[in-house]
Amino acid sequence: MPDKLNLKWIKAASYEEMSKIAADLFMEQLHEKPESVLGMATGGTPEGFYKEMVARYNAGEISFVHTKSFNLDEYVGVDPKNVTSYHYYMDQNLFNHIDIKRENIHVPVGNTDDLATTALEYDAAIAAVGGIDMQLLGIGVNGHIGFNEPGTPFSLGTNVVELTESTREANKIYFDKLEDVPTHAITMGIDTIMKSKKIVLLISGASKQEAMNRLRSGEITEDFPASALHNHGDVTVIYTGVK
Ligand code: GLP
Repeated sequence: MPDKLNLKWIKAASYEEMSKIAADLFMEQLHEKPESVLGMATGGTPEGFYKEMVARYNAGEISFVHTKSFNLDEYVGVDPKNVTSYHYYMDQNLFNHIDIKRENIHVPVGNTDDLATTALEYDAAIAAVGGIDMQLLGIGVNGHIGFNEPGTPFSLGTNVVELTESTREANKIYFDKLEDVPTHAITMGIDTIMKSKKIVLLISGASKQEAMNRLRSGEITEDFPASALHNHGDVTVIYTGVK
């Protein structure tokens, strides 16, 4: 019997409230353990969360000086300095505005010659610092987490994936045209994500209704990557704009 009660659901009245509730959880985590290892996500959904974290940093309520971070994913073949890279997104939305040390920031590098080694080294680096304490996640319209597309074995660590057409279509707003959207990405695997001690999943907007319904059904299947989260003991889902 799938244990859908394993997830803790919080309904937020607005996008701003969702972002604030998520920031509360991360702030609490950092207050309890300033040297926390945080797992970070990209996409439109967490932008408000990052604004909230920066505001709290500016207000002196929070510091990242002892914190380490690991991002979920990056496009393959995109230079970290390129405006469409997730490196750039993270700098713009968070890292340039807070006191985290540069050497403590980790985002998978997607333009190396040896992506297989890069992937193995990424998981080893996470393990070497004792694992991720709190991982932020968004969800794709097809239920992907990170860039783990439907069909991905739950057993995989960080790996290189081919993006589905629906994902490339959803992400083309960040590019001039669909053909410019990379075809592949390097992503923490489901197994990497599941090793995080706590997980916070944000779901916002009507385009995620189907993913929301499927997650709430409690069915666990590799066809719906986010359903792996039912096997984790500490996942908080904060949702808004979906029923
Ligand atoms: C992207 C990212 C995911 C993100 C998801 C949803 O492809 N790789 O980490 O959670 O898609 O993005 P958005 O929040 O923009 O809907």
